[in-house]
Amino acid sequence: MRNNSEPTIFDLSSVGRNGYQLPESDVRGSEFPTEFAREDLAFPELSEQDVVRHYSRLSALNYHVDKGLYPLGSCTMKYNPKISEKTARLDGFTQLHPLQPTETVQGALFLIYDLQHILSEISGFTACSLVPAAGAQGEFCGVKMIAAHHAYKKQHQRKVMLIPDSAHGTNPATSAMCGYECMPVKTDSRGNIDLEDLASKCNKELAGIMITLPNTLGLFDENILKATAMVHKSGGLVYGDGANMNALLGIAWLSDLGFDVMHYNLHKTFSTPHGGGGPGAGAVCCNRLLEPYLPGPICEMIEEGTKDEPPFYGLYSPERTIGMVKAFYGHFTVLVRAYTYLRVLGANGLRRVAEYAALNANYLMQALKKTYPLPYDRTCIHEFVLDIKWEDAPDIRALDVAKRLMDFGYHPPTNYFPLIVHESLMIEPTETENKRTLDEFIEAMNSIAEDARHAPEMLRKAPSETPFGRMDEVKAARDLKLTA
Ligand SMILES: Cc1ncc(COP(=O)(O)O)c(C=O)c1O
Repeated sequence: MRNNSEPTIFDLSSVGRNGYQLPESDVRGSEFPTEFAREDLAFPELSEQDVVRHYSRLSALNYHVDKGLYPLGSCTMKYNPKISEKTARLDGFTQLHPLQPTETVQGALFLIYDLQHILSEISGFTACSLVPAAGAQGEFCGVKMIAAHHAYKKQHQRKVMLIPDSAHGTNPATSAMCGYECMPVKTDSRGNIDLEDLASKCNKELAGIMITLPNTLGLFDENILKATAMVHKSGGLVYGDGANMNALLGIAWLSDLGFDVMHYNLHKTFSTPHGGGGPGAGAVCCNRLLEPYLPGPICEMIEEGTKDEPPFYGLYSPERTIGMVKAFYGHFTVLVRAYTYLRVLGANGLRRVAEYAALNANYLMQALKKTYPLPYDRTCIHEFVLDIKWEDAPDIRALDVAKRLMDFGYHPPTNYFPLIVHESLMIEPTETENKRTLDEFIEAMNSIAEDARHAPEMLRKAPSETPFGRMDEVKAARDLKLTA
């Protein structure tokens, strides 16, 4: 539904106007095959200025993280420092060809080698592969590695993968793709893994568990050590979904908490512009047990340097590797951005990232819980989940609040995930926002809560200030129409 009249390029068209001047033709003309020509194909007729202004105006309608707060829980849309764009565009990186001999790409290999090392150190693990192209592919690799290990140990009866009921949808999808039977584990009243439910599912058929930490309620699981020990005791392995690692940088090692393998979402945690299927990197880190199964190629130092010669780097694939999952080295320029981010911040800076992520989320949560229902009311880490169920505004849903936020100029938070909170709004301010931005957001949210009681139609009709109004999202997905 269109709200205000943003003209299409056809509305702007005017017969006879054009934006080009071609020189006299100096080649012989030829007959155009008319059987392929259409009489009814409309072309807009515009000047160059009309076209430039039209597309410039449209580009400014897009919402993006450089325009304002993007509190999309679980997706971590933080500000992407521009220095990373600069380094990713250096000719020395962009002009490389992946088939060049290794002696001619030593700088790029050093970057891969050092990044593998830094990511292993941050998670406490011993090895890393940077090849997976996204978080979901990192998960796929990690769970395949678990499966390969059980197969190597002839533990073929291990066919169940446990997944907490708060998990991101990619976790069960990954397990199913790896041939596992997925079994949910309940969340207890404090938002932790329910240990009783977990105990009832730990047996000889258990291949492992996929745990997100902090979980998608934004909470640190208080039962994590007990949960991982229970899974190990039954012979299962523990996968860590590290999509929320911005909350733990420099604070905790997943290896210490009983995890065997994990992925990072480099594009979220270490800032690459992403979304809408944009480029990602889902680096996988693991302990010694699973190291032989990592996907290659992995970068290694073949010769140590001397005082006159730098070290020499090469590539290898581990002995029992799950195989190649992506062409060449993965999404290399995402790796360059992550490396830049890590090197610029250093160890102390990374810890401050985690501290600010938690501080910002808790500041917002404490303010908003005065006006919005908060189902798990305890200190959160990097995000928190509201449940839009007001007794005095029973018809207002999470979707209405999310859409109304667009009228205030914000990207809506994640909604209807995690599934265990039925009217959920999952808010992640990220570490990069300042107090003033957070206060303005609180003001907008409070004003929406007020309208929910006194002018509920403002929410139900929202958004009204954007070029397009509320979409029928199911129809849009099922009955996609790509023409005007
Ligand atoms: C908790 C969690 N796990 C996994 C993923 C998958 O990551 P990607 O989108 O890079 O495939 C996401 C992405 O939003 C996520 O939030």
